[in-house]
Amino acid sequence: MLFVIGQAKVAKKNEKEFSMKTLIVVFSYHHKNTQKVADAMAKMLDAQVKSPQQTALEELSQYDLVGFGAGIDSGKHYKVLLDFADRLPPVDNKIAFIFSTAGLSGDKKRGKDHSALREKLHSKGYVIVDEFQCKGFNTNSFLKTFGGMNKDRPNSEDLKLAEEFAQNLKKK
Ligand SMILES: Cc1cc2nc3c(=O)[nH]c(=O)nc-3n(C[C@H](O)[C@H](O)[C@H](O)COP(=O)(O)O)c2cc1C
Repeated sequence: MLFVIGQAKVAKKNEKEFSMKTLIVVFSYHHKNTQKVADAMAKMLDAQVKSPQQTALEELSQYDLVGFGAGIDSGKHYKVLLDFADRLPPVDNKIAFIFSTAGLSGDKKRGKDHSALREKLHSKGYVIVDEFQCKGFNTNSFLKTFGGMNKDRPNSEDLKLAEEFAQNLKKK
């Protein structure tokens, strides 16, 4: 009997987890690295993936959870995404997550790279539940001459970590 009650509770919890309507807004152009990460996350969250240009500001209110991601340029998310964040209407503690791909990555760098977008989202009333970054193929500037850095990144291991990140979001 206890087992049956336990199962029902798990089913109810999963139902709640999966009922979070999720949108991922991603801007990715250099090698579509961040798009790959967004797609891996979307698979786990059953989320829609759109670019900032495809996303009407009014439609955001339909979503329970919003992810914001882009490549990193000069230590910040791409300007297209930052400008989109500037145009967001204010919300009341809506939950969100942030992600990126970059030439160099690490806990400290992720925190720094994400700070401009994080601050904009905070100022609009978003609560950031988690953040993700991994390396992405980079042929910017002189790197092109040497065949670029981080060839084949994000790789299958990075995308697995992105999936796990998305899976964990459901518990937060
Ligand atoms: C113009 C430009 C500027 C970049 N600046 C940085 C940077 O400041 N820090 C960093 O770690 N990577 C930097 N990168 C590397 C990109 O963030 C990385 O290649 C990313 O994965 C590209 O994402 P995308 O393919 O989704 O556009 C830069 C790349 C470009 C093209």
